[in-house]
Amino acid sequence: MQLQALPGFRDFFPADHTIRTHIFAAWRTVATRYGFEEYDGPPLEPLELYTAKSGEEIVGQLYSFEDKGGRQVSLRPEMTPTLARMVAARANGLRKPIRWFSIPQLFRYERQQRGRLREHFQLNCDLIGEPGPGADAEVIALAIDVMRALGLTAGDFKVRLSDRRILEALLRHRQQSDAQVAVWHQVLDKLARTPDAVSRQKLREAGVADADADAIMGLAQAKAWEPLAAPSLAAASASLLEVVRLLNVMGLGDYVEPDFTIVRGLAYYTGTVFELFDTRGELRAICGGGRYDSLVGAIGGADLPCVGFGMGDVVLGELLKDRGLLPSTDARLDVFVATVSEQDRADALALAHELRDAGLSVEYALAPQALNKQLKHADARGARCAVVIGPDDRARGEVQVKDLASHTQLAAKRTDAVGAVAALLAR
Ligand code: HAM
Repeated sequence: MQLQALPGFRDFFPADHTIRTHIFAAWRTVATRYGFEEYDGPPLEPLELYTAKSGEEIVGQLYSFEDKGGRQVSLRPEMTPTLARMVAARANGLRKPIRWFSIPQLFRYERQQRGRLREHFQLNCDLIGEPGPGADAEVIALAIDVMRALGLTAGDFKVRLSDRRILEALLRHRQQSDAQVAVWHQVLDKLARTPDAVSRQKLREAGVADADADAIMGLAQAKAWEPLAAPSLAAASASLLEVVRLLNVMGLGDYVEPDFTIVRGLAYYTGTVFELFDTRGELRAICGGGRYDSLVGAIGGADLPCVGFGMGDVVLGELLKDRGLLPSTDARLDVFVATVSEQDRADALALAHELRDAGLSVEYALAPQALNKQLKHADARGARCAVVIGPDDRARGEVQVKDLASHTQLAAKRTDAVGAVAALLAR
């Protein structure tokens, strides 16, 4: 019998789950702040949803199989095709622009490496129905604000920004064939992770002349916006420069830098493309997205312009850990209700339920236990307060309320016990 989780799949023990909840809470809070509504779709989809439009790389990583009804199906490796299908199905009835977000668990049979697992959760935020750069700037601002909400600054991460139309103009200008354009996409997407000689070799094999390779690589690796001023690139750059201007106006200019090697691995992007990286260059991409104006049409709906991104929980969690920004994962109990004798149990149960009704997290010993053991357990569970119920106090209509942090104690009327605990917790 296999006793461990599959390679690349995670068990979420409570401490791990606390971190996941923390990340999801920031995702939901910020997406909601931008007016985005949450949606979801099925985790299992028809295989052709991905083979049609996602691109070779992701199709090679699918968890696909034939189901018992003879259908070719796949676990979802990304959310965007599901979103496009859902929007295409109701395109006419939905008020535009559509602002939707989702937090799906996704599955890709990846080679094991730091920051890449075979399942991950991904915040997807997509803005549908607006073709202009205002929508691109809005979703990029959302991604930046998610990072800020988690305590990260412009010193920790950057948005690397480009536009596929610029690369296309550059390649057209250099008279590259469609096959060569496809090789350029692959080479640039992997440039940072590939030895230079290997990239050059791939281009040579595709028949790209060395002089063209030098010229395009030179421009692609430029770390400033200036090259976009070239007359041959002016039309293709206008939208990207407007996105940058809008982000500057929003006060987010520090978070953004040009990177013309960003093309994105997925096949459907048509315009603005971006990825978020840690500034120390230690981790894989935290987030990736861009404009994809033809996908909804290709999946069967009317042409609808879309822009959005996916942000994974794996790399983000590593970055938060590296920067000391993870929440405490200790169990946090508000109150432990302890008893001196078994005769006190009925009163303890009644009080525990009153406290829970008041919204507090409460535990008590489920079986008879010595008082000092109960108090030790209360400490171990991180309880801030213990209420001790004993025969003498009961006879007087009282309970003892202990502050487990300051080791002080006071007697409270049994009828005021909930108020006394709330007052202690508010201190
Ligand atoms: P993607 O670049 O494939 O884009 O994934 C987005 C992010 O998900 C990555 O930057 C990374 O943080 C995380 N991620 C991807 N694969 C893995 C993995 N195997 N293990 C851990 N994390 C991973 C998309 O999926 C697009 N559909 C995003 C999008 C939405 N574009 C427009 N709207």
